[in-house]
Amino acid sequence: MTLKNSPYVPGRRVDEVREETGLAVISKLASNENPLGPSPLAVAVMRTALNDVAEYPDMVAGQAREAIAKHLSVSPEEVILGAGSDEILMLASCAALGPGRSAIVLDPTFPQYRQHSLARGANVLSVPVGDLDDSIDGIVNLTGEGTGVVWLANPNNPTGTVIPNARLRDLAGRLGPDWLLVVDEAYVDFRSDEPDGAVELIREYANVLVTRTFSKIYGLAGIRVGFGIGARDLIARLGFFRGPFNTSQLAQKAVIAALDDSEHYERSRSVNSEGRARLLDFCTKHSLRHYASEASFILLEPPMEEMECVSSLERRGYIVRPGRHLGAPGMIRITIGTPEQMDGLIETLETLWNLPS
Ligand SMILES: Cc1ncc(COP(=O)(O)O)c(C=O)c1O
Repeated sequence: MTLKNSPYVPGRRVDEVREETGLAVISKLASNENPLGPSPLAVAVMRTALNDVAEYPDMVAGQAREAIAKHLSVSPEEVILGAGSDEILMLASCAALGPGRSAIVLDPTFPQYRQHSLARGANVLSVPVGDLDDSIDGIVNLTGEGTGVVWLANPNNPTGTVIPNARLRDLAGRLGPDWLLVVDEAYVDFRSDEPDGAVELIREYANVLVTRTFSKIYGLAGIRVGFGIGARDLIARLGFFRGPFNTSQLAQKAVIAALDDSEHYERSRSVNSEGRARLLDFCTKHSLRHYASEASFILLEPPMEEMECVSSLERRGYIVRPGRHLGAPGMIRITIGTPEQMDGLIETLETLWNLPS
């Protein structure tokens, strides 16, 4: 079997760039991880739980699902846990895709939608990110008589742009029941406009799945835990494809503690919002083409060749992501870091690009 697909290209690791450059301090601003690190409450709980790892975890992740359900005012039967939200995307494609079905994505967007869809033998169609009305009309026009999945990241990765809830509701109403609408809210917590996201849509539409993750604002990317929220029948359909012990005992415990750690959550949100405003101002001040991001990163066009820019920044201690690996050639995506990292980065960009400070 030949799959016409390019494998996911992750952000470079700190240890490999450190070895290459010999620099002691490297800032990884490439994979939208939390620059403040994990929730300390989650870390403390995982330390205590280490002695119990000889046992298999709770197969249905009961307590973790209950905590998430309470947090979002839904019922535990409307929640499914995965090894990262990426696993939930995979389960959704198992449940709704196959040969003869279609997947609709925006271009550019998170590459895994395409990957999972192709892995199920589905046909992938795309609509350019642009004017919101055009994108939504474009998606609806492609649905036609077929059946499949519409994948939307909201905020979108790599652009950081958002579709307001009212427009999502409009789109859900225009899709037939044979289409599953996946609203991937990995970055919802960073939104300044509608940080509660679109969970309420699952009450109105049985074919809407919202996905979220503990990898971003909660700083737990390394333990791989995310979840999906949808109507009970839909969650049961996804559950059919889930392995019995897909989330670890440490992850299940960490989730409960992380949801309780409102201090870490609020601090992460405010560090991101300040850093993002600074980098957006920087782009505007220097007339750099960029997208108005509501997420924890900004996609911008550097005034030099993309790969040369990425390696020049690595030599100066900053790992950023080349746009070509994210469907946006000629651009770079920068994750918002701590205030100190943003100071250093902005100074470095001004020197590298010969910009007035
Ligand atoms: C839009 C989007 N969705 C999903 C994910 C997957 O996150 P995870 O599997 O760590 O939950 C990412 C990771 O970068 C992402 O950017």
